[in-house]
Amino acid sequence: MTETAIAWDTYSRQRPERRPVNAHGETSWFNWTQYLDHGPGAELLEVPAGGRVLDLGCGKGGNVAHLAALGARAVGVDVSPRQLAAARERWGTAPGLELHQAEAGAFLAQDCEGFDAVYSVYGAVWFTDPARLLPAIRERLRPGGRLVFSQRPAVEGCYGCQASYIPRGDDEDPLVVKRWDYEPEAWEQVLTKHGFGEVYASVLAAPPGRRTVGTLIVSART
Ligand SMILES: C[S@@+](CC[C@H](N)C(=O)[O-])C[C@H]1O[C@@H](n2cnc3c(N)ncnc32)[C@H](O)[C@@H]1O
Repeated sequence: MTETAIAWDTYSRQRPERRPVNAHGETSWFNWTQYLDHGPGAELLEVPAGGRVLDLGCGKGGNVAHLAALGARAVGVDVSPRQLAAARERWGTAPGLELHQAEAGAFLAQDCEGFDAVYSVYGAVWFTDPARLLPAIRERLRPGGRLVFSQRPAVEGCYGCQASYIPRGDDEDPLVVKRWDYEPEAWEQVLTKHGFGEVYASVLAAPPGRRTVGTLIVSART
């Protein structure tokens, strides 16, 4: 297994499964943020009826399973075998859902059918060099298709490639994965430079409560 897959398997052990139902009593739903029952939903993707949509870094699969439930041909990709196993166990038999264990860039290089929308929720788009991944996404997005991704906003002054630490316990060093952080305006420039149009990036405020960090949501179109 690659070091990246080992790191994300370790992360997977520390993360709970999605709740059986949300605050509205729904058994599947879309969440772009780190907060429960907060923010916009799948409408940001503008997936046409029966459209094909790709989740890069789908984790335990809750969002991609929701898109399948809405009638999309929903494809989830994740580098972590453990994340994928959890996704398969909970959602694996859902009609319209495909799950693949793969690195995001490698998957995009070999799947030639194309997508109506590509998205990533705190996923592979955050953890892959945009100079490598954005051209690969653009290549596979059909004309007019949307790319939308969310992640934690950058800490002021900490831009570009940053280190994220995945703890392993008191007597072991944490594992490290790289992530890419920019201010909203810088993301708009990066996406425009890679040939995307209608690029919007903004930070959605946290819901009322003690936590204050919002969610950066970036959207663009081919
Ligand atoms: C913070 S988790 C988010 C998971 C999920 N999107 C969610 O909202 O719960 C990041 C996920 O991205 C996956 N990931 C990170 N880099 C990746 C890459 N280059 N290719 C595929 N998956 C990747 C990890 O394995 C992990 O499951």
